[in-house]
Amino acid sequence: MTVHFIGAGPGAADLLTLRGRDLIAASPVCLYAGSLVPEGVLAHCPPGARIINTAPLSLEEIIAEIQTADAQGLEVARLHSGDLAIWSAMGEQLRRLRQLGIAYDITPGVPAFAAAAAALGAELTLPGVAQSVVLTRSSGRASPMPDGETLAAFGATGATLAIHLSIHVLGEVVAALLPHYGADCPVAVVWRASWPDERILRGTLASIEGMMDQQIERTALILVGRVLGAEDFAQSRLYAPDYDRRYRPLGTHPRFPETA
Ligand SMILES: C[S@@+](CC[C@H](N)C(=O)[O-])C[C@H]1O[C@@H](n2cnc3c(N)ncnc32)[C@H](O)[C@@H]1O
Repeated sequence: MTVHFIGAGPGAADLLTLRGRDLIAASPVCLYAGSLVPEGVLAHCPPGARIINTAPLSLEEIIAEIQTADAQGLEVARLHSGDLAIWSAMGEQLRRLRQLGIAYDITPGVPAFAAAAAALGAELTLPGVAQSVVLTRSSGRASPMPDGETLAAFGATGATLAIHLSIHVLGEVVAALLPHYGADCPVAVVWRASWPDERILRGTLASIEGMMDQQIERTALILVGRVLGAEDFAQSRLYAPDYDRRYRPLGTHPRFPETA
């Protein structure tokens, strides 16, 4: 018996890996993390599967469900939204499963920040503009931010920021970033990226707050950085005609000569 942790993607049911789909279909027990996991993903569960929404459960109750399945020799599909590497609460479940000697594996999913970038038609790393993306959040009741992980500290780098779990404190986000990025820095808010009712607000640090309305809450990402809407960035050297590279060796003494 194995617990299969599966990234269920950002919302669109078809943004699920083939491996994830097949594991869901092969698991008679499915634990899913609340309303952010799309119903279309749950549709891959086999007929008669025991399907449990874990949103109202404690960690102990979730582990008890897994132990029951383990005792019956039933595979478990454990679904979390987006990818599992960020803000999934997978870590504490894995720790308990290691203590209990219950096997698990992990299948990644499409994270919300990637879905939001796709919705915006944007690459978040552009040559000469930004080469780093910071995935971060603001302090929450469940998870305070560690000292040092402040928006101001990340903002001082000029990196592209993908700020999660923070739309309710947009004003604080703007105030923290204004000194570093400037009032004209582009900002995008993507609400429900990849959902049928997805919405995109594009503005600047100066204007974005005034563009908000009551519908935009909870499932929204704030993206900040000069990469958004930039057209005057340098071209990557990778595809430059004079760039000597392994798959396109150049000149009489290429750095990466073709081997016979
Ligand atoms: C608990 S975190 C989960 C992140 C998830 N594990 C991931 O890989 O993206 C939830 C936050 O992710 C963001 N989020 C998740 N799905 C989203 C979507 N479809 N569109 C925009 N933001 C989303 C929001 O900021 C939301 O508050």
